[in-house]
Amino acid sequence: MENSKIQILIVDLGSQYTQIIRRSLRYLGFHSVILPPEASLKWAGENKPKGIILSGGSASVYDADMPKIPKEILDFNIPVFGICLGMQWLAYINNKNSIQAVKTGKSYGPVEVAVDTRSPLFKGLAEKKHKKINPHTFFFEVFPKRSKSIKKESVGVNAWSSHGDSVKNVPKDFSITATSKEGSVIEAMESAKKKIWAVQFHPEVEQTEDENIILNNFAVKICGCVKDYDKKDVIKEIRENTKKILGVGKAIIGVSGGVDSTTLAAILAPALGDKLKAFMIDTGGMRRDEIGKVKEIAQKAGINLEVIDKYKNKFIEKISQSINAEEKRAHFRAVYGEVFREVAKSYGATHMLQGTLATDLIESGSAGNSTLIKTHHNVDLDLGLKEIMPLSDFFKFEVRELAREFGLDKLLANRQPFPGPGLYLRIMGVPVSAELLEIVREADYEVAEILKKYNIYDKISQTIVALLGINTIGVKGDGRVYGYSLVVRTVETTDFMTVKGFYLSKEICEEITSVLTKHPKIVRVFYDFTPKPPATTEFE
Ligand code: XMP
Repeated sequence: MENSKIQILIVDLGSQYTQIIRRSLRYLGFHSVILPPEASLKWAGENKPKGIILSGGSASVYDADMPKIPKEILDFNIPVFGICLGMQWLAYINNKNSIQAVKTGKSYGPVEVAVDTRSPLFKGLAEKKHKKINPHTFFFEVFPKRSKSIKKESVGVNAWSSHGDSVKNVPKDFSITATSKEGSVIEAMESAKKKIWAVQFHPEVEQTEDENIILNNFAVKICGCVKDYDKKDVIKEIRENTKKILGVGKAIIGVSGGVDSTTLAAILAPALGDKLKAFMIDTGGMRRDEIGKVKEIAQKAGINLEVIDKYKNKFIEKISQSINAEEKRAHFRAVYGEVFREVAKSYGATHMLQGTLATDLIESGSAGNSTLIKTHHNVDLDLGLKEIMPLSDFFKFEVRELAREFGLDKLLANRQPFPGPGLYLRIMGVPVSAELLEIVREADYEVAEILKKYNIYDKISQTIVALLGINTIGVKGDGRVYGYSLVVRTVETTDFMTVKGFYLSKEICEEITSVLTKHPKIVRVFYDFTPKPPATTEFE
């Protein structure tokens, strides 16, 4: 990216949240760059950004491993915003005794912060949903010199903190503009004269409920930044970065018809040309008409998609060896990996493109210390190819916005999500077989048709139709039969981390039951509206 477009320099002091600062600024519409402290001074001198942010970090200003921030960074007359360790450093360089350890060892988690909304950094917070706080407990002690009017100007903000030290006394010429609710921690300080602003908490993370007002205030009100980042820049950046990483290599991408992989392929197809091969593996566990729909979407997005369908039986054979959910997933991954490897080899690919978002990595336990919730079929697949994940620091809603740029939003929006291992996850208690897959595939189709007829399909986040592999007795025609049951599960959610049951009416349930039990092997239909937690969306 041209340096001339970068408005904010983020000096990385090692915080796990540094990338989030850049992502939040991007969301607000401003280009920024992250640099280590050693490289920051030269860059700032040459490029004169409109603002400088000093990120948080895990070190203490008293530690030997404290990042070496060049003090001269403050001499450019450019506004500086210190966050957490950044704030502590700004106090420390004025007075070596201004930092104290947090009494309880470390403050990690939510804090209620009382902020003075007369600070340009906090302007606009009062108009949001934040509570008016009772100032008597702390404001008189913390702001003794200020007039009583401050009471009217203060609001309580739920913020996120993560620090072992805090500022004990602020430098000369600085004023305190926020404290913790009980007044024991100085949560913000500023000196308009010196063009320095600082907060102890982390305004960049979602848990700080400021709706990005603080970062936006710093960028616009304090630095005079102008919004200049739009979706076209994101697309250009993804293309340029991927091309750079790919070099002389060739990439493959598996397209499933989901938002992430399809949008990524649409972004990269024109830029990479014949250096990109997009393909879809027919696993035998797809919904009815799935392949036709994905082909249609790919065509609309300008993606030259090849469907590889000669391995269906291999998937069924392998997955039928177990009825245990995680073992089935492992078998699916193994065959999927094998096929992927073969396609990659025949094409001479060196790299594999993944539409993986940060949430996928978290659920697979591949990010930080998060525990494994379940294995995803396409994360950490060791294919001997280098992986490129251009969307790995994007929010889902950002990817949806990018999809809109390619006219894909409508085509993709009315598709309910569908897991990679597909219908294999929807046959429980018995080994999967081509026949059982066909039963759930048809049932899934029939249910979707009924829900569409009643105009509620689009209101449901996901519909799951699964087969329970225990036989129960039923009556069909004149005789008793021993047959399977189907479960219909409809849920609503925004992020699938939690879900609520989407309750179907008696009329709809009756129609579904009547249609599904027409199959000779189905004798009962159950309905499942259990929330997640305790259930998951899928059955296994
Ligand atoms: P759960 O069952 O975890 O589902 O509440 C949340 C969302 O993830 C989908 N899902 C999967 N997707 N591979 C996938 O690609 C999987 O193994 C898998 N398991 C669940 C599920 O359909 C829902 O949309």
